[in-house]
Amino acid sequence: MRNIRIFDTTLRDGEQAPGCSMHIKEKIEVALALEKLGVDVMEAGFAASSKGDFDSVKMVAEAVKDSTVASLARCVKKDIDLAYDAVKNGASPRIHIFLATSPIHMQYKLKMTPDQVLQNIREMTKYTKSLLSNVEFSAEDATRSEREFLAKAVYTAIDAGATVINIPDTVGYSTPSEMYDLIKYLKTNVENSDKAIFSVHCHNDLGLAVANSLAAVEAGADQVECTVNGLGERAGNAALEEVVMAIKTRKDKFLAETKVDSTKIYMTSNLIYKTLGLRAPINKAIVGDNAFAHEAGIHQHGVLQNRETYEIMSPQSVGIPSNHMVFGKHSGKHAIKDRLQVLGHTLNDEEMNVFFENFKNLADKKRSISDAELIALIGHTESPYLAQEYKLDRFTVNSGNQMTSTAVVRLSYNNQLFERVALGHGPVDAAFNAVNKIIKGPDRILDDYSIQSVTDGNDALGEATVRIKYNDTIYTGTGLSTDIIEASIKAYINGINKTL
Ligand code: KIV
Ligand code: ZN
Repeated sequence: MRNIRIFDTTLRDGEQAPGCSMHIKEKIEVALALEKLGVDVMEAGFAASSKGDFDSVKMVAEAVKDSTVASLARCVKKDIDLAYDAVKNGASPRIHIFLATSPIHMQYKLKMTPDQVLQNIREMTKYTKSLLSNVEFSAEDATRSEREFLAKAVYTAIDAGATVINIPDTVGYSTPSEMYDLIKYLKTNVENSDKAIFSVHCHNDLGLAVANSLAAVEAGADQVECTVNGLGERAGNAALEEVVMAIKTRKDKFLAETKVDSTKIYMTSNLIYKTLGLRAPINKAIVGDNAFAHEAGIHQHGVLQNRETYEIMSPQSVGIPSNHMVFGKHSGKHAIKDRLQVLGHTLNDEEMNVFFENFKNLADKKRSISDAELIALIGHTESPYLAQEYKLDRFTVNSGNQMTSTAVVRLSYNNQLFERVALGHGPVDAAFNAVNKIIKGPDRILDDYSIQSVTDGNDALGEATVRIKYNDTIYTGTGLSTDIIEASIKAYINGINKTL
């Protein structure tokens, strides 16, 4: 069995997607979840792109022990120095440098001749290698590069010390057979190809990212770069959960495996969707609500006789809990802690105390609490990394179709209370206006607002999501309650806290 390394770039390429930026504390939560998932490498960011990115790469590198942590860098000394400073204290650091090799990128973007590109690759790979032994080189836009030139670029990078060579399909242009041929070509024709691990990084513009990545694996690539839920620039990157489950389910074909603990896929996917205020499309492979649902009678009948008639993998294998248990206000802490563990969430005592308090509050309002609601509640339980500043203390709204809505909102901040009243076009608007009077801030724009129920029924939990635009960055806030106005105010405060 070959071991295929999983290089996760959710925190870099994923985070580059519009509306997907994460707060530094959220990045650490995600990084720790990726470590538990068992990714071999995680790209924590692009240290030179901003002070915030530098800080988060550094914090992730220092927090993560079991995965290699990489920072991206252009083939520029200043970028490489910053990447090095950000990752150097990590348990297993890597610097990932990149330079484009396609004619269109070299001519119009880099304004460099092919010879200058080769010289830059040699110098900057050597320079990176002088700082760190673990160096990855990416030939950006490799799939639109001239093969002979790409081979020279790859040779040069390996000769100068690169240990991993990444072949990105930067614009998602390739097809699986082309990707297969390209990796075979490079592995066969680059004289020193046996001195490096070959990697692929496929974008999904034509919906072929996973297929292209798997074709590359068949051709000999030993590392796949991907993101949880397929997030990433434009149409995204290859989805980690799809690549991992394809290799696992079709072990017979790939004769390969990964180190990812597939039973943690579902919770990691949920965490990331929740952090970004997104939801899986219902038919999303592996993690969508319908991924394991059988509606048609013939299918249901078949599955009841033998699951494998219509299921090629089990929901449990990706961490979707099998039996549904229901909890209520008489449920004990231990039973809930055990259930959370089954659902993939191990809480320490301190976290469990906070969670249990929230659970009890919810159980006072709802007769029964399902797995989905436990998972939702956990996403809204403050962890030591996500201690908020402003909190909702109480609110009252007065609204109707023949009147102007009014809201009185009281927030707490550092043990002090602040209360304001405001009018609005409806109860949510009035409540948000009252919050704005308390937490003043210029140029904060409510870009999007939505509310969805977590489960069915009149007493379902509502999960509100807001997107707030501030200083050209989108901050996502979420809030959970059986009362949709309360969920909305909590989401708004959660989003604003992140801007502060
Ligand atoms: O898509 C791409 O080419 C990249 C590189 C920087 C690896 O993200
Ligand atoms: Zn990319």
